[in-house]
Amino acid sequence: MTTATARAFPNIALVKYWGKRDEELILPVAGSLSLTLDAFPTTTTVTLASESHEDSFSLGGRIATGETAARVTRFLDHVRTLAGSDARAHVVSTNEAPTGAGLASSAAGFAALATAASAAYGLDLDKPALSRLARRGSGSAARSIVPGVAAWHAGHDDSTSFAEPVDAPEMHMVIVTVDTAQKAVSSREAMRRTAATSPFYPAWITSTEQSLADMIDACAAGDFTRIGEITESHALRMHAVIQACEPPIRYLAPASVAVFDAVAALRAQGIEGYATADAGPNVAVIVRPEHGEALRDALSDFGSARLVGPGPGAALLADARSETPA
Ligand code: PMV
Repeated sequence: MTTATARAFPNIALVKYWGKRDEELILPVAGSLSLTLDAFPTTTTVTLASESHEDSFSLGGRIATGETAARVTRFLDHVRTLAGSDARAHVVSTNEAPTGAGLASSAAGFAALATAASAAYGLDLDKPALSRLARRGSGSAARSIVPGVAAWHAGHDDSTSFAEPVDAPEMHMVIVTVDTAQKAVSSREAMRRTAATSPFYPAWITSTEQSLADMIDACAAGDFTRIGEITESHALRMHAVIQACEPPIRYLAPASVAVFDAVAALRAQGIEGYATADAGPNVAVIVRPEHGEALRDALSDFGSARLVGPGPGAALLADARSETPA
């Protein structure tokens, strides 16, 4: 029996990934950049089960079925192809973030699964190869392989589309959870609809490449203010291109918009934060480390506000990999 356990943390994009150029390989239409967090990890154990005829997947103590389980099996099929194995696997995962609420649980989930499954199947992958593998499960997972700030370059094919670390000034984040309900439209479906129907989509693609170039310059210059300005305007652009779909999709709730407004008001008072939101109503605010606690306290009226810092990349847990004769 071969078992491996890995832990990965979610990341929040400052330059968003929204749209696929290739659905099968999960190649994005543009690059993106994120901060991997030090909270809300997913821990996943993969155990090869040669005697089984099918994979099993349990999430938070419940056996998953339907599309959730099928997605894990498709991912494991890819790992099996790389490893030249036909062994089925038992996957047991626990997730400290509310699943499906726009807190990047799929990013931590597939980064942990890629790391654990590649070890359990005996693949020896370097970080770029692990990032490419995680990308096949969920695009944003490519970035959770990397600690701290990660740039996922769009690349032009499977081998060139992976995330790597970027030097940046230290940033903290306040995660304001205004709603923990599962989102109504998955990011996969919403990306498809955006590409097919949003008239702003071509401008989104070209402006995102520009935002990424500007963001990488701002990170290199250590310019927190510029990083924040790009973060906030890019998030609102993503929500604009999504809201322009037919039929429209709106992820931001009134409470989310209220947090954006509060963050702007706090900036005017000298607490420097900038808001962003993924495909859900919750808001993440990047903040200078010295303003983190004041921002968290000021935003706690809007929902649970948690102050987090930069986190580690996905990693195998020590002593968790064991091999014993079957
Ligand atoms: O990895 P996915 O398919 O769940 O897409 C995530 C997309 C956003 O979270 C909205 C943006 C991003 O770059 O993480």
